[in-house]
Amino acid sequence: MSGKKQTTGSNAPVQCLTERPAWKALAGHFQTIRDLHLRQLFADDPRRGERLTAEAAGIYLDYSKNRVTDETIRLLVNLAEECSLHEHIAAMFRGERINVTEKRAVLHTALRAPKTERIVVDGIDVVTGVHAVLERMSEFARQVRSGAWRGYTGKRIRNVINIGIGGSDLGPVMVYEALRYYSQRDMTFRFVSNVDGTDFVEATHDLNPEETLFIICSKTFTTLETLTNAHAARAWSLRKLGDDLAVRRHFVAVSTNGEGVSQFGIDTANMFGFWDWVGGRYSMDSAIGLSTMIAIGPENFRAMLAGFHAMDQHFRSAPFTQNLPVLMGMLTVWNSNFFNAQTVAVLPYEQYLKRFPAYLQQLTMESNGKHVTLDGARVAYQTGPVYWGEPGTNGQHSFYQLIHQGTRLIPCDFIGFCQELNPVANHHDLLISNLFAQTEALAFGKTEDEVKAGGVAGWLVPHRIFDGNRPTNTILAERLTPETLGALVALYEHSVFTQGTIWNIDSFDQWGVELGKALAERTSVELESRDEPLLGHDSSTNALIRRYRLLRNKRP
Ligand code: F6P
Repeated sequence: MSGKKQTTGSNAPVQCLTERPAWKALAGHFQTIRDLHLRQLFADDPRRGERLTAEAAGIYLDYSKNRVTDETIRLLVNLAEECSLHEHIAAMFRGERINVTEKRAVLHTALRAPKTERIVVDGIDVVTGVHAVLERMSEFARQVRSGAWRGYTGKRIRNVINIGIGGSDLGPVMVYEALRYYSQRDMTFRFVSNVDGTDFVEATHDLNPEETLFIICSKTFTTLETLTNAHAARAWSLRKLGDDLAVRRHFVAVSTNGEGVSQFGIDTANMFGFWDWVGGRYSMDSAIGLSTMIAIGPENFRAMLAGFHAMDQHFRSAPFTQNLPVLMGMLTVWNSNFFNAQTVAVLPYEQYLKRFPAYLQQLTMESNGKHVTLDGARVAYQTGPVYWGEPGTNGQHSFYQLIHQGTRLIPCDFIGFCQELNPVANHHDLLISNLFAQTEALAFGKTEDEVKAGGVAGWLVPHRIFDGNRPTNTILAERLTPETLGALVALYEHSVFTQGTIWNIDSFDQWGVELGKALAERTSVELESRDEPLLGHDSSTNALIRRYRLLRNKRP
């Protein structure tokens, strides 16, 4: 990509990332430290484990087990500054249209701004609107939780089913699971996302429609999966309830598209709105979180928003060397672009966070899985890594082998809490001792001498060696609370933003999902047609369609 200047969607000239002086300085620095071992780095500085840490909004980040020196951090900060991260952060919080390809502001931070703050977009203070919706959500959640909101036949609502996909599902599911400890236990919460009919059937098979409320969540209210499931839900409800009027008591919608909601048959009085400046994957704290609010109650929901806001404030104001999201974002760039790490494993040592990696996959990969810069030039460097993970300790007995002794470098985020929510004998100490042990083993490994000193000899020795030097972050908080969860999600949101700013990409669009959607539309017509369709795909797709039609028609 030569040293030519690029332009952003807003026409400001931007220098190509790999031509930046700070990038070049990092590339030179990398050559000097690429072979340095964490064993050495810790031996050289006995206080490293206390120094290379930062803390904010109830979250403690230990990044000392990354392959960095003070000089690395200094150079990464230079890079972030050269990429105008300060200015980009300010622009996001001000509500500028930094989502350039969709010409939209990016204001999920306004969703958790206190009532007293003012953020003006197109002449309108958006914070007032946010709090008006929060009030309506709170009122509705209280009615459902207390039993004041009754179903069509007068029965109490005992089941809430959220229908949505992507950001309209992954956030609600993740947060429901994460904060289940705080949830109203005499209610059942389920989530239907997949257009696979099994998802809907399994979610509803043991429920009574008279006691079931559906929340149809879709920012656009045009998403095929969600509308298909919403129609199935209406048919399921009306089979028992008989009367179209029942829809009013059993369906509410969360959307930015009032017209689509009305067309579906949901009264817009039962609609909770949000705005085009909230991206789907950044929407769990908007009205998309209605199921969350019903589950945990309005007070806990507001506590979660306060946690988000505390991290937002930290991100806006803390110096980069102490700024958790900036540090995590810069370290991801360092590991991806210099150590050529292809993935990041996210490993919560907390059962309630079992859906957190799945949630992060959309947040990180839909945001930073981009191959062009803001002005459309092909990037000359890697962008967003693959995020994946499972809760500890389960992962230890499946894929950790590869992280310890495989040939790929896999940076890991370990997440843990000092206090358990469900005390059972010494389980929690065992859990967290495993977390600490894993980061220690990954960093320091086991040398040939140590293996031999342990009594292993001969050909077996190489099999028992652990190279170590595998980078990890440890994220530790006191206890999993609504506040901590909010802060944790905001930490990752802003880390993604930091990465995207350095890579000079649009972290807020998602054009990559469009092609498959369009092709599926055409293919569904071909699958459903009664006559043999004339197929114009490639030979593989044509043959698959024919085979499917043939075998499907043989079904019992
Ligand atoms: O197809 C991707 C996507 O647009 C996501 O970005 C979004 O979260 C999801 O679909 C669902 O969209 P909607 O909320 O409009 O139904």
